[in-house]
Amino acid sequence: MLRSTLRKVAVFATVITVLANIYAYTFPSLNAESCSWHCFDKTNAKDDSSLPLDATLFEKVVHRAKSYATDVYETNFVTKVEDSEDSQRVPDVHMMALGDPQIKGVWKNTPYITRLDTFGNDYYLGHIFKTMKQRLSPSHVVVMGDLFSSQWIPDSEFYNRTRRYVNRLFKRDTSLIEEIKQSNHNNDTGLFQVDWQAWGSTFNEILENNPEDFKFGYKDVDAWSDDEDYLFVNLTGNHDVGYSGDATYQHLTRFQKLFGKDNFWIEYGSETDHPWRLVVLNDLLLEGPALQPEFVDYDWEFLRQLEAQNFTGSTILATHVPFYKEEGLCVDPPEYNYYPEVWEKEPYKANLLRSQNHISEGVTNTVFNIVFGNNMPGMVLVGHDHEGCEVTYNRFSGNNSWVATRDPLANADYHLQEITVRSMMGEFFGNTGLVTGHFNEDTKLWEWKFTLCPFSIQHVWWFSKVSAIVTVLIWSSLAVL
Ligand SMILES: *[C@@H]1O[C@H](CO)[C@@H](O)[C@H](O)[C@H]1NC(C)=O
Ligand SMILES: *[C@@H]1O[C@H](CO)[C@@H](O)[C@H](O)[C@H]1NC(C)=O
Ligand SMILES: *[C@@H]1O[C@H](CO)[C@@H](O)[C@H](O)[C@H]1NC(C)=O
Repeated sequence: MLRSTLRKVAVFATVITVLANIYAYTFPSLNAESCSWHCFDKTNAKDDSSLPLDATLFEKVVHRAKSYATDVYETNFVTKVEDSEDSQRVPDVHMMALGDPQIKGVWKNTPYITRLDTFGNDYYLGHIFKTMKQRLSPSHVVVMGDLFSSQWIPDSEFYNRTRRYVNRLFKRDTSLIEEIKQSNHNNDTGLFQVDWQAWGSTFNEILENNPEDFKFGYKDVDAWSDDEDYLFVNLTGNHDVGYSGDATYQHLTRFQKLFGKDNFWIEYGSETDHPWRLVVLNDLLLEGPALQPEFVDYDWEFLRQLEAQNFTGSTILATHVPFYKEEGLCVDPPEYNYYPEVWEKEPYKANLLRSQNHISEGVTNTVFNIVFGNNMPGMVLVGHDHEGCEVTYNRFSGNNSWVATRDPLANADYHLQEITVRSMMGEFFGNTGLVTGHFNEDTKLWEWKFTLCPFSIQHVWWFSKVSAIVTVLIWSSLAVL
């Protein structure tokens, strides 16, 4: 009696487990269009016979199931012929943008259930990245800042989270950060620790005397190392280096040591007829009052050097904090907080910029005029608000000002899309943003298109793992009974 009941339970659990895992490994196929690179060449596009508006529920379900099955088949069983790459003179840009992972820390007094949650969350995020990377072979992967959940952590915790970020989330080689630790640690404890005084004096020396030595610019970099086939870009967020009223030498030193430059550009094909560039900007340091005003000088020095390039191509600008827009367009309204006049905890922070949801209006105009001043098509990618948003900035040349609206205004002379990439955290359904860039041979201009590919809340992923374990346990108890 018990045996037969248990057997039924085992079969049921097996079915559920298989379904949950099929879902977890094929989730992009359920939203095949949003989860694929945009196809600009309509003659090559798959015949996506869209349903008539009055389709019945049954027809819709069948249609969805068909498109799911086709996509699963094509992604898993058809060897990819890069036909578009062959027939296309200029390959498309395939950029994955991942919003605010904000991984949390584990401390001595963290309860076990929270530790397990944090541990699982790393692998949940890693699952999203791995699945999407396998499916789409991106040319660029950009993490939109707020890699970690707090800037108030010691160096050794910053390192420990970096290790999880490298190893569990992005399945990258950890030897590079281990080497960095070799040359940046506390001799007594052996733990990662940066010498920010040394870093700071070099920084100030360069800023004052040889700003060209910041070496902000790169050309045609497809990967940071030979054994990688995509370019990995880390952005700074307020939780990584702090807002400008908080950012210290220690923050900036450890970020730059482990994650690379916070300000840089890479120009692609600048000698060709199809130039474009990626501009990575640490926009947390654009405004003050700052704790270290020299950091703000450094940000503006970057923009000065960027402008002096006289670049003639298209631009993707990637930064953390969204640009100025009126309340109501996105979830976060503009908001600026300053430390009070009397701030006993840290008196030296009185009146400094404590937080900001947007870049101020004036600075937004200046930055856009510098970065997009050449009138070429472009796109702005930001993170920070977690919810995601898409707006258009309309430029009116009369006064060089940029106005954000939901839909493009017809009387503006230039339009720029800003995409706030929805977070990859479980609460926001584990999103991956996909930016496709395509060089239009007729107009001789780049075209950029963004889509968002959601997964699901982290519990679904947990369920697929836990149910697998439970199923194995039930079958093994059947075997011994
Ligand atoms: C980081 O990890 C090391 C080695 O596991 C550990 O000794 C150290 O205490 C961790 N740092 C923090 C702040 O927990
Ligand atoms: C971004 O961070 C990861 C993890 O530390 C690292 O592997 C990668 O090299 C970093 N990128 C740069 C440009 O340093
Ligand atoms: C950009 O243009 C300015 C003014 O025409 C010129 O002085 C400068 O040398 C140019 N910069 C580059 C990198 O060509």
